[in-house]
Amino acid sequence: MMLHLEGVLTPEQVAHCRQVLQAQDWVDGRVTAGEQSARAKNNLQVPQDAPAARELGDLILGALGRNPRFVAAALPLRVYPPLFNRYDEGMAFGAHVDNAIRFAGPVRFRTDVSATLFLSDPADYDGGELIVEDAYGEHAVKLPAGDMILYPATSLHRVAPIVRGSRWAAFFWAQSMIRADAQRSLLFDLDNAIQNLSVKAGQGEPSVVSLTGIYNNLLRMWSDV
Ligand code: NI
Repeated sequence: MMLHLEGVLTPEQVAHCRQVLQAQDWVDGRVTAGEQSARAKNNLQVPQDAPAARELGDLILGALGRNPRFVAAALPLRVYPPLFNRYDEGMAFGAHVDNAIRFAGPVRFRTDVSATLFLSDPADYDGGELIVEDAYGEHAVKLPAGDMILYPATSLHRVAPIVRGSRWAAFFWAQSMIRADAQRSLLFDLDNAIQNLSVKAGQGEPSVVSLTGIYNNLLRMWSDV
């Protein structure tokens, strides 16, 4: 499932991120890439342990914790500290699948859900689409600053070459309580249907109570926590 989350950051928060990032020493993005993806990768990143990356990462994680659609869609168990990248003119990231396991200090994560949070206005650059492949074909994603795309970490994806301007973004992964994308998608659809039904029929409506029970029992059956 791919999901577009609008307004994860406010325009003020985006401006703050950009101001802090402007002052950073950007390094070659291959430092966080696996062997295969390092060959395809040509971009810049803020070092993972830079205090600014921590500060902005915490700002983003705070915003995500208050975002019910993110929580419902990702069902996060752990969220990897956000990283920040930048593609200037001529830079790109060829097709790859992200590493399955990552380390944040001593903590090991399985990457189930990938996220890109756009920090540049789409009018500020040409090219630079995130292109995600799934069974339905290729999806080109270029979102307003402050918006985020979630997609299964199992997907083959790439970033198209930048032909004008510069594209800044935060990216990270979540380990979900639900490993399989198909099960996570079903739970998200069921959750949305229950929310809609409870608005129309009320929380106490017996069908809402029954479906909420089914949601929880599927979550119990499928989750690893
Ligand atoms: Ni990637």
